Amino acid sequence: MSEKWINEERLVRALEPVHAGLVPGLCLFEAIDSTNAEALRRLKSMQSSRLPPPMAFIARTQTAGRGRRGREWMSEPDAGLYMSLLRSFDLVPDALQGLSLVVGLAVYEALKTLVGIGEEREGISLKWPNDILYQGCKLGGILLELQRDEALSHVVIGIGLNLDLPPDVDSLLDRPTADLKQITGERVEPVKLVTALLNQLGRDIAVFEEEGFAPFIERWNRVDAYLGKNVRLQQDSKWTEGISRGVDSSGGLLLEPLNDDGVTSHATGEGGLLRFEGGELSPTLRLNEDRE
Ligand code: BTN
Repeated sequence: MSEKWINEERLVRALEPVHAGLVPGLCLFEAIDSTNAEALRRLKSMQSSRLPPPMAFIARTQTAGRGRRGREWMSEPDAGLYMSLLRSFDLVPDALQGLSLVVGLAVYEALKTLVGIGEEREGISLKWPNDILYQGCKLGGILLELQRDEALSHVVIGIGLNLDLPPDVDSLLDRPTADLKQITGERVEPVKLVTALLNQLGRDIAVFEEEGFAPFIERWNRVDAYLGKNVRLQQDSKWTEGISRGVDSSGGLLLEPLNDDGVTSHATGEGGLLRFEGGELSPTLRLNEDRE
């Protein structure tokens, strides 16, 4: 394998003890269709009903990378990090609602440690529910896929992070993008990124498993790209406009609704706030933007 790619021994040495159980389940691929698809295939082939140990699937390139809402995730060799973590929980799917936000926070924290930038508007931030942004441009995304059996919830946590995108990428994608090379001025070594991510995910998922999303609310609201801003949420063909008021104790998005004149309306929901569990968020341009 080339220098640019991951040295498995180095990766295993750098993992914290909490990941001892993950080491036998570490699977590196030069190329695969999708690390999420591979994780789901492995899950299907496991017959045991007891809590299976976690596994991680990391590829240098994906030929059919999956994004949210059925989109393709561009996965050129060495242009990004493509990783899926398979974790099983003795919890019902409802109790896992905030998990994708916790994963976003873990990615944020790992990047902050690695590239030393964040917690200010100019740096890295999170867009509810699953986007990692750099200066408002998409730096990475998270795709969770859940399978339930009689006793357990199995979650495939797919993470895609842009490392060094091809120069013509903006003409191929429908949104502005950023990569880590642009932030640091050099290529971030995948092995360093993977260990930082796995170690942070290990710690945060353990807290989430015990205590749910509540301990993460403040952390999330601190790095939320749109807190206090005018936003628009699209759910299929329905649009809701409002001021983002952050997330609640199960990771739902809270919006203060606006009427057609852009004036806050307290007519709906508890405390005048509307709560959402999914959808596509975008900023809106209004004169009354940035009200705290
Ligand atoms: C998004 O659309 O924002 C989510 C993108 C998630 C991409 C990652 S790359 C690793 C894993 N394997 C996939 O096929 N998708 C996820």
